[in-house]
Amino acid sequence: MGRMTHVLTALAWPYANGPRHIGHVAGFGVPADVFARYMRMRGHDVLMVSGTDEHGTPILVQADSEGLTAAEAAAKYNRIIVEDLDALGLSYDLFTRTTTGNHYQTVQELFTTLYGNGYILQKKTLGAISPSTGRTLPDRYIEGTCPHCGFDSARGDQCDNCGRQLDPTDLIDPKSRINGETPKFVEEDHFFLDLPAFADALNAWLDTRTGWRTNVLRFTKNLLDEMHPRPISRDLDWGVPIPLEGWVDRPDKRLYVWFDAVIGYLSATIEWARRSGDPEAWKRWWQDPEAVSYYFMGKDNIVFHSEIWPAMLLGANGEGAGGGEPGALGKLNLPTEVVSSEFLTMEGKQFSSSRRVVIYVRDFLERYSPDALRYYICAAGPENQDSDFTWAEFLRRNNDELVAGWGNLVNRSIAMAAKNFGAVPEPGELEDVDRELLAATRTAFDTVGDLIGANKVRAGIGEAMKAVAAANKYLADTAPWKMKEDPKRQGTVLYTVLQAVSDLKTIMSPFLPHSSQRVHELLGGEGVFAPMPYIEEVADLDEGGATDGPYPILTGDYSDVPKWESVPLVPGTVLEKPTPVFTKLEPSIVDEEIERLNA
Ligand code: MF3
Ligand code: ZN
Repeated sequence: MGRMTHVLTALAWPYANGPRHIGHVAGFGVPADVFARYMRMRGHDVLMVSGTDEHGTPILVQADSEGLTAAEAAAKYNRIIVEDLDALGLSYDLFTRTTTGNHYQTVQELFTTLYGNGYILQKKTLGAISPSTGRTLPDRYIEGTCPHCGFDSARGDQCDNCGRQLDPTDLIDPKSRINGETPKFVEEDHFFLDLPAFADALNAWLDTRTGWRTNVLRFTKNLLDEMHPRPISRDLDWGVPIPLEGWVDRPDKRLYVWFDAVIGYLSATIEWARRSGDPEAWKRWWQDPEAVSYYFMGKDNIVFHSEIWPAMLLGANGEGAGGGEPGALGKLNLPTEVVSSEFLTMEGKQFSSSRRVVIYVRDFLERYSPDALRYYICAAGPENQDSDFTWAEFLRRNNDELVAGWGNLVNRSIAMAAKNFGAVPEPGELEDVDRELLAATRTAFDTVGDLIGANKVRAGIGEAMKAVAAANKYLADTAPWKMKEDPKRQGTVLYTVLQAVSDLKTIMSPFLPHSSQRVHELLGGEGVFAPMPYIEEVADLDEGGATDGPYPILTGDYSDVPKWESVPLVPGTVLEKPTPVFTKLEPSIVDEEIERLNA
């Protein structure tokens, strides 16, 4: 991607059924934000979209447990999630909701196009209901033994062990995950997405994909080996109505939550364009064949993004086995890459709100800084394999790497320059050691940048920290504090290390934007260096959705980001004595936090 490109950064839509925990933001949030921030600095036209996923049983179950309506629960958790994501500095262009009128329209438009092209089948099927409540039990909420591999916690929609898609009726000894009872199966009319009609087109598309993580590619290839029509309607009163005569007014039939949620990527782009005052602008990310799109999620979401959403797009384009014509939204781009992370466990256990094995983002940020969490996720997150969050490791990485490495470099160099010169010193002639350090940080722009561009965040921040270590070593080797007798050389050394710090704050900014902004200011810089999202209260643009009243969106102005390059420091820029950029933590927090978890 040498030239300027339109880059859609699409983040999985969190269910509006609770606050987000750090496992969630490690999966879809921080890695995507690092990518989006970097791509903007490279001059690309990035659009980062998502929102809360507000339909389906997860929301109904939560609403029931709190005595709220689904709409009330969704609105409550939408607001909480918006605050969580804002506090982490995730730079969404638009974080919206799936209950907006605009989303309902877009979903119905896509359904209508797929239906018109013949890719939606209507047939009778066995549906699971809960005998005690009479309510439909969605696939995800049924658990049993996988008929293919014998895994005993397979879900009614897929087996997390062998990766096969399942129907609830396939499960051996199915049980409700809500209350453990055995579901009753009754015959119902339903709509199905004709997945087998996309087998060839999906395989051909997948063959053109390069650079995907092997886990995602292998998983997707397996899925394509065995495809069945997939139900896309449910017996529910909460969701997007089915836009067909005889169905649209029925209060008990709705589109399946996953069918509507993935369309959110498109509807959110359209909403962003409408709010920006240029309603056609969304097409630049969806219709321009040169545009690229990267989808970020945890691994339990892969099937929906690498098989079902691409199939829906192919069908809407008229590109399945049955042909057809693009609908009113035109021919739409398929994903460039599905970037999936693995799971983050905590102190060796799987996160679970119900079992209280959980650290919420908001609780975390009450006691620690957003960049401390972002650093941990970037350096030790579940990028290619499951990884474990432990408080001991958090303490170690914060104190030994962030504070003693990057923080110490910033503080020592700026403090010394402020004390001895009160400003960025004028350099004398550079020596080889000086040139070597400057060359090393400059090279880091390429190494770190290429790694972020390939979504290798762990390796990327590792390289950035190596450059930090090189600068710390340079300080130790040159020892400018011993140069009282030679102010000229001292000025040259401090100028050199400050230039390295300045370059490193740019390189660090996709990972650690809050502290890069601080370093920018400590170096005498003005204005916004690493732009932050903000919350705005808006009204729904349209009638017909399920929002009631104004709601918060997350948005931001990222048009003025610095370039991904070294900018020469200006000698004479006034420097003040710095205060620490990161906070060293007491070892006692480890026991305190573990106690809190067990409380
Ligand atoms: N709500 C889902 C989850 O938390 C993710 C939805 S992603 C989307 O697992 F593609 F459907 F939007
Ligand atoms: Zn299985």
